[in-house]
Amino acid sequence: LCCGTNAESPLLQCVLTGRWTNDLGSNMTIEAVNKAGNFAGSYHTAVTSTTNEIQLSPLQGSQHRTNEKSQPTFGFTVNWSFSDSITVFVGQCFVDKEGREVLKTMWLLRSHVDGIRDDWKATRVGTNVFTRLQPQK
Ligand code: BTN
Repeated sequence: LCCGTNAESPLLQCVLTGRWTNDLGSNMTIEAVNKAGNFAGSYHTAVTSTTNEIQLSPLQGSQHRTNEKSQPTFGFTVNWSFSDSITVFVGQCFVDKEGREVLKTMWLLRSHVDGIRDDWKATRVGTNVFTRLQPQK
């Protein structure tokens, strides 16, 4: 949380890098955002549509216009290590009226199906809200 300006929260900038938790109890870590706006990270989901054992999974994403906007839009893909599925998230990093950062996202979860006849049931959609995980003292 740093020092940009915008209409809602002057002097507060929303920064993607760090550890986040969402309304399902899933946790993710976003590594440094590079000059092009690209980043990597890891995702630990609290839930799964499968019967497989949950494992930490890699994510890759992009943030729009690094350094220009204080509440950037972004997207990232999670390539699940323990299933044949992929989730894409899109969202925006906001600073709320208390000055806390919040990621408002929507996602599409594509599951593997055996054939085109099952395509109709292969995609789930939803929303997640992420807040920053506070470092343990
Ligand atoms: C799978 O079930 O095949 C992989 C795990 C999917 C977890 C989904 S992604 C969207 C939603 N948000 C989360 O934090 N977890 C679920």
